[in-house]
Amino acid sequence: MSRDHVILNINVLDLGISPVAWQLSGLPKTATTTGDYFAEIGRIAERGTLDAFFLADNPAIREDPLVRPGGRALEPTTILATVAAATSHLGLIGTLSTTFNDPVELAERFLSLDHLSGGRAAWNAVTTYNPAAGGNFGLTANPDRATRYRRADSFVDLVLALWRAAIDGHDIAHRDEFFDARGLLPLDGSPQGHPLIVQAGGSPQGRDLAGRTANAVFTAEWTLPAGLEHYEQVKQVAARHGRPRSDVAILPGLITVIGSTEAEAAERYRTARELQGLDQELAILGTQLARDLHTYPVDAPFPQEVLADLDDPNAFTASLGFRESLVRAIGDRLADNPGYTLRDAVLEFGAGGHRRIIGTPEQVADTIEQWFRAGAADGFNLMPDAFPSGLEIFVDEVVPILRRRGLFRHEYAEVTLRERFGISAARARDAA
Ligand SMILES: Cc1cc2nc3c(=O)[nH]c(=O)nc-3n(C[C@H](O)[C@H](O)[C@H](O)COP(=O)(O)O)c2cc1C
Repeated sequence: MSRDHVILNINVLDLGISPVAWQLSGLPKTATTTGDYFAEIGRIAERGTLDAFFLADNPAIREDPLVRPGGRALEPTTILATVAAATSHLGLIGTLSTTFNDPVELAERFLSLDHLSGGRAAWNAVTTYNPAAGGNFGLTANPDRATRYRRADSFVDLVLALWRAAIDGHDIAHRDEFFDARGLLPLDGSPQGHPLIVQAGGSPQGRDLAGRTANAVFTAEWTLPAGLEHYEQVKQVAARHGRPRSDVAILPGLITVIGSTEAEAAERYRTARELQGLDQELAILGTQLARDLHTYPVDAPFPQEVLADLDDPNAFTASLGFRESLVRAIGDRLADNPGYTLRDAVLEFGAGGHRRIIGTPEQVADTIEQWFRAGAADGFNLMPDAFPSGLEIFVDEVVPILRRRGLFRHEYAEVTLRERFGISAARARDAA
């Protein structure tokens, strides 16, 4: 545990992470195209003194009818500008791809948001795994992982150079295989100097990028040993680059299904299961594991071959970070119980790539405290099953428990996200 307070971000995935969130939320399916919906979630999060509002990104036109309705249609930085206006302290983290954006434009967009929000913005840099994205940008396939990460390294360096130059007003010159940029953004440094960098992607290349440049990492780890290992690895990369370990916070995803009692939580989960069936989760888990799981009997023991190493990990278009976490966690289950079935795995791991807790506010607080104190997490990216109720119960019932345990703030002490996350002051131009 390297800080006094746990970091808690709310990951606003459409109407919730549950595939049937649109049926659980009680909101119209069109809510996610209104500013009011996101502003209200921001206000609830701020009532609970949460750290930041987090948005994922999917730069692909969606073809799969299973992800409709309820798929978020609005672009992340546009939503964050609305949330900025509706709140005064909440951090604003937006995901945008390094593969399918331009660094100069992105640097200007996030620095603008940072000014408008008084220093609360952060950019989550991802390289994109959705194979459909490339098609939207005139490619027949996404570039392979090695190329994506080489571009990501260069992209993040250029964005940081532009932001640092905005502080001291000197032109930059950056030229390499991907970009050729000279000059200066038409903006000064922001109240926090410049936006923070967040990273998501758990392959070795992703962990290196995170340790070298990020102030927070969104990870997908299921077990405490895997969480501890990932945490330590990224902190060590940071230290190798001469950065304080506290300049990069590790934030695993945590899916929550909360009830005031265990029976209430179980009932909430059972209702969702009845609505959704097994098919969609089988498909999602299959994509993450790079296998078609529909070809296996669901009530037979989990097929070991699905967990075998990939022939060419670099050619695997989905996230290696997600895959390796799953392979390890399912492998552990099978070692403990050879009768562990595909259905068991779907019920346990099909929920959207992240660890899930179904339980009471006390139980949710316990797991947060356990990972935080053990040194497997500096905080969490929270993913409620459905908004707004899943966030409201967290704010009203889990936050007070964490406060009583001395793990979470009672009120905001800082305005900028940099101060709140305890990150070193922004440097002006890079000495390098
Ligand atoms: C926890 C987590 C969250 C991610 N969120 C997104 C996202 O919102 N949008 C996106 O395009 N990619 C996302 N990615 C995937 C990244 O694009 C990632 O850079 C790419 O798939 C390579 O992942 P890898 O380093 O785990 O192999 C995410 C990955 C992880 C592990």
